[in-house]
Amino acid sequence: MRDHLVLWVNGVRREVRGGDAFLTLSDWLRDRLGLVGTKIMCAEGDCGACTVLVAEPTATGRPRYLPIDSCIRFLFQVDGCHVVTVDGLARDGDLAPVQQAMIDCHGSQCGFCTPGFVMALAGACHARAAGEQLDWRKELAGNLCRCTGYVSIFEAADGAGREADWLATRFADEAWMQEGVRRRRESLAVHGHLDGVAMRATCPASLDEALAARMEPEARVVAGATDLGVLWNKRKLRPRHWLDLSRVSELCGIAVEESTGGSTLLAGPLATWTDMLRVCSERCGEAVAVLESFGGPQIRHVGTLGGNIVNGSPIADSLPLLFVLEATLDLASAAGTRSVPIHSFYKGYKHLDLGGDELLVRVRMPLPGPDSLLRLVKVSRRRDLDISTFTSAILVRRSGDRIERARIAYGGVGPTVVRMHDTEATLAGQPFTEATFRRAGDVAAGEIRPLTDVRGSADYRLELARSVLLKFFHEQTVAVG
Ligand SMILES: Cc1cc2nc3c(=O)[nH]c(=O)nc-3n(C[C@H](O)[C@H](O)[C@H](O)COP(=O)(O)OP(=O)(O)OC[C@H]3O[C@@H](n4cnc5c(N)ncnc54)[C@H](O)[C@@H]3O)c2cc1C
Ligand code: FES
Ligand code: FES
Repeated sequence: MRDHLVLWVNGVRREVRGGDAFLTLSDWLRDRLGLVGTKIMCAEGDCGACTVLVAEPTATGRPRYLPIDSCIRFLFQVDGCHVVTVDGLARDGDLAPVQQAMIDCHGSQCGFCTPGFVMALAGACHARAAGEQLDWRKELAGNLCRCTGYVSIFEAADGAGREADWLATRFADEAWMQEGVRRRRESLAVHGHLDGVAMRATCPASLDEALAARMEPEARVVAGATDLGVLWNKRKLRPRHWLDLSRVSELCGIAVEESTGGSTLLAGPLATWTDMLRVCSERCGEAVAVLESFGGPQIRHVGTLGGNIVNGSPIADSLPLLFVLEATLDLASAAGTRSVPIHSFYKGYKHLDLGGDELLVRVRMPLPGPDSLLRLVKVSRRRDLDISTFTSAILVRRSGDRIERARIAYGGVGPTVVRMHDTEATLAGQPFTEATFRRAGDVAAGEIRPLTDVRGSADYRLELARSVLLKFFHEQTVAVG
C-alpha cells in the first residue's frame, strides 16, 4: 500500500507526502508549486477560472486531456495522472495557438477568467484534433467572463480550432504514462495533518478493498467530488477520512445489454456525465438535451451518475429519468449485494435506503422501446450551468389513439423526486387528446405540494406541473402531424 502521491504537472514528476494530499488541486498548484496562472474565483465549480487539464494514463492509445475545475478536485484524486496548467502551455517562449488567438481576437480585458478559458479551449482543441465534433458554445459553457463578453472569445476559439493538436506535441514525451498506469493500479493510504487536523485518504484499487474500507464508519465516500468539493470549500463538511472510489475499475464502465425483454443500460456508479452523454446519444436520444445542460463540461467530465443518485437532491437531473425507467440500484457491502428499485431508495429529504457499510455498485436502466414516447424537461433560471427549478420525465406508451400506460416523475416539487401515480392513472386508457392531458395536468397539480424558494414560487411550480403535460401532448401532435 503506497503512502504518498505520485503525479505529473506540466511534464514534471512530483511526489506529495502528508497533509498536502488533502488540499484542493487549485490550492496545491498555487500555494505549493507557485503556479498562480490558475485562478480561484467562485471555489464552487461555477465559473471555470480554475480550469486545468487532467489526463489519466492509459495502457494503450493516446492520453485524453479533459478540462476540469481544480477548485473542487482533491489532490489525492489525481494521483497517477498528468495535470497541465496554463503555466505549462507555452513552449520555448512560443505561446500555444489558443493563447495567441485570445490575444489576436482581443478575448481578454481584466484577464481574471482568461486562464480558465484558455485551458477549456486547449482541451476542446485537443478533443477536436482527436476527431470529436464540437460546438464551442457548449465547450465553453463552464466558463464565465464578466467584462470581455463572449463574441471575441468565440472568435478566438474559431481561430485556434484550426490548429494541430498542440497538447499532443507539447507533451509528446509520455514517459509518465508507463509509471502512471502502474501507479493507478496501486492502492493508496495517505495520512497527514491539514490545518492541524489528522486526515486520511484511502484509495482502494479493487471493490473488495473498497467494501472493507467502507466498514469504517468515519470513512466518507467520494467519487467525482463535484458535490462534496463544494461543501468542503464552504466548510460545511470536514471528514477526517476520505474513501476515494476513483480507481476501482469494477465500478466503472457503461454498456447496453440486449435481451428478449428489451435493452438495459448497465452503468457503474463511476460513469461520468460525459460517458452517459456518449451512450445516450446513441441509445436514448431524448436524454441528450438534459445531459448537455448538466453543469458544464468541467463538471460532466468528473461528476458521476452514482454521486448524483446518492447525493439524493430532489432536483438532481438524472432522477426523474431513472424513476420513469424504473431503474434498479445494486447496493453492496462486505456481507453481500442487494437490489433496490429507485423509487424505494429515497425515504425522505436526503434520507436513503443505503446502509453505512454499503456502496452503490451498479445502476440498471431498462431503455424505452420503440413504442414509447419519452420527454424530459429541465426548467432553470439560466440555460447553462444552473440548478433546476423543476425537472420532469414523461414516458407514455400509445396504442393507436389511446394511451396504454404512462409513467411520470417530477423533481423540485417535494423533499424527493415524486412518481406521479394519480396523474398516470388519469392518463391510462384515455384517448390521446389535449383534453386528456389538460385533465391530467389538474390532477398533477393536486398531487404535489411544492415550496416557494429562491428558484421559484410554489405557484410557478404548480403551473409547470400542468404545462409540461400539455407541452408533451403538443410536441407529439406536431411530431406526428
Ligand atoms: C457547478 C456545478 C454544476 C452542477 N450542475 C448540476 C446539474 O446540472 N444537474 C445536477 O443534477 N447536478 C448538478 N451538479 C451536482 C453534481 O455535479 C452532481 O450531483 C454529480 O453527479 C455528483 O457526482 P460526484 O461523483 O461528483 O459526487 P461526489 O461529490 O463525489 O459525491 C456525492 C455523494 O455521493 C456519495 N457517493 C458517491 N458515489 C457513491 C457510491 N458509489 N456509493 C455510495 N455513495 C456514493 C458521496 O459520499 C456523496 O455523499 C452540479 C455541481 C456543480 C458544482
Ligand atoms: S474557481 Fe470557479 S470553478 Fe473553480
Ligand atoms: S476578462 Fe474580465 S472576467 Fe473575463
